[in-house]
Amino acid sequence: MARKVRILRASDMAGTLAMPDVLALVERAFAERGRGRTEMPAKSYLHFPDQQGVLLIMPGSLPQMSEAAVKLISVHTGNPAGHGLPTLIATIVLVSPDTGEPLCIMDGAYVTGMRTGAASGVATKLLARRDSHVLGLIGAGFQGPFQLEAVRHSMPVKTVLVNDLVPEKARKLADIAMGFGLHARACETAEEVVRGCDVLVTATPSDRPIVRNEWVHPGMHLNCVGSYAAGKQEIDPAILKRAIVVVDDWEQASHAGEINVPVSRGLFGRADVYAELPEIAAGLKPGRTDNEAVTVFDTTGLAIQDVVTAWKVFEVAERNGLGLVIDPLFTLPT
Ligand SMILES: NC(=O)c1ccc[n+]([C@@H]2O[C@H](COP(=O)([O-])OP(=O)(O)OC[C@H]3O[C@@H](n4cnc5c(N)ncnc54)[C@H](O)[C@@H]3O)[C@@H](O)[C@H]2O)c1
Repeated sequence: MARKVRILRASDMAGTLAMPDVLALVERAFAERGRGRTEMPAKSYLHFPDQQGVLLIMPGSLPQMSEAAVKLISVHTGNPAGHGLPTLIATIVLVSPDTGEPLCIMDGAYVTGMRTGAASGVATKLLARRDSHVLGLIGAGFQGPFQLEAVRHSMPVKTVLVNDLVPEKARKLADIAMGFGLHARACETAEEVVRGCDVLVTATPSDRPIVRNEWVHPGMHLNCVGSYAAGKQEIDPAILKRAIVVVDDWEQASHAGEINVPVSRGLFGRADVYAELPEIAAGLKPGRTDNEAVTVFDTTGLAIQDVVTAWKVFEVAERNGLGLVIDPLFTLPT
């Protein structure tokens, strides 16, 4: 019998998931990928140059978990000023691996935030020094609170330092951190954040390096989140040359991640990458082994992170009757 389709708006989903659950799910998804048990064709891009927009299509499936989904995510930089709309608009369709039926259509912002935070959290757990206590955040936009939430569950954070081009945003994120009982401070400069922290998250749309090599001290771990397209970069390529670099996926990272600019200039190559995070999550390679090493995680976001997170939201929504339920979209054969 055909199953109904659940529709979940952003307002139906806020707060449905606990970050520790998402961290465990995303780590499992990485491990499944490391063991070669996921299917995740490369992201496809549709370009809308006249509208300063791009649409990314991200399919993924995890057969061991019987989960599959496709995320559509558009990045239209002219949206806020031109249309009063967000820059990023994401939609996720969950598909039954058994029958191919669409089971759920949901807004993708919450899932994207939770799973992007969780990727940094998993990388922090596997790559940061155990005695890391100070978290630095550069970029206090939509992703900021999710990054804070994920990393504070992945290392013993005592202090949070935040910088944003818009000081008010940095103050708001610092206030959220203080709400968790942490020491937190909005910093006027990125340099102050970088020099003072043990683990750094960069989550800006910058296309020029913000973080300078000389600010980065031995033993630091960096999660580079912001780069999503060719030409984007947040840290000085000299940091990549001296660090142990881990990517989420070589193909994605070399085209769109933090490493894409140095790769395109021939300054950085596959041989300079220590591992893909899925290999470490699967236990095929060790994480941090040297307390003095600088480690960098270049995350571009994998479709399988969306799949496991969105299916968890769906499970909660089914249990609690969230959102709307409509009849199947297709017609049954007679
Ligand atoms: N890796 C992933 O999986 C993934 C997932 C989602 C989003 N992203 C990327 O992460 C970035 C942040 O996303 P968001 O949704 O939070 O965007 P956002 O627009 O909500 O926030 C970005 C913030 O960065 C600040 N900023 C910009 N340039 C800065 C600079 N030089 N120094 C300090 N702050 C600066 C802005 O003021 C803003 O507050 C985007 O580039 C987005 O595409 C990556």
